[in-house]
Amino acid sequence: MDISEEMNKTATKRSKESGVSDKVKFVLGDSQNLPFDDNTFDVVINECAVGIPDDSQKVLNEMLRVVKPMGAVAIHESTWKKPLTEQEKDEIAERYGTTPLEFNEWKEMLEIAGTSNIITEFEQWSRPEMFWNIRKDRTVKSHKTIMSIREKIITAYRIFKTYGLKGVIKVFENEIFFFKTVLNGELGYALYKGIKKPGR
Ligand SMILES: C[S@@+](CC[C@H](N)C(=O)[O-])C[C@H]1O[C@@H](n2cnc3c(N)ncnc32)[C@H](O)[C@@H]1O
Repeated sequence: MDISEEMNKTATKRSKESGVSDKVKFVLGDSQNLPFDDNTFDVVINECAVGIPDDSQKVLNEMLRVVKPMGAVAIHESTWKKPLTEQEKDEIAERYGTTPLEFNEWKEMLEIAGTSNIITEFEQWSRPEMFWNIRKDRTVKSHKTIMSIREKIITAYRIFKTYGLKGVIKVFENEIFFFKTVLNGELGYALYKGIKKPGR
């Protein structure tokens, strides 16, 4: 089973456990080329996956294409909090695996895609604990304890099987680098919500 099928299976199982399986449908597809007709949905959201594909503008264009006129779009995306050089940004992006942008860059790209009435929330989504207090089963007080020791060993083993020891070292190095960036207040998240301009 490839990872997409595994994600689909897990999502289907969880929707059943939550009693909402009759209200949801999971469809695999490329966010740069969504498998839906124009003007299909009332609301389209993307949580931290606009910056990952090669062309983030295409992802936003597609979100706006499939939402109905006057429908809502919302994204939650990594956003620079301090001025950094292009070189610094590139290194963080490479290690983090996504492309954070400036607050105004995300807004402009949403506007280019056809979004109006954009409202945002930045500071409250960028507090450092938002990056580690992410577990449903317990409160996490430090980025070092997001995973239990057992979970860290399992994760390291899974990485090792595919990428060897070098891969394991790289992942842990990247993690340390990433949380340093967060603790330095260089990187945060922001929430952007708007509506599709009528007539588009
Ligand atoms: C940071 S995660 C988003 C987390 C997600 N919101 C969640 O709560 O699990 C980014 C996701 O984007 C997916 N992704 C990357 N490129 C994609 C593409 N071109 N089309 C659709 N999904 C993509 C990855 O597989 C990954 O699951």
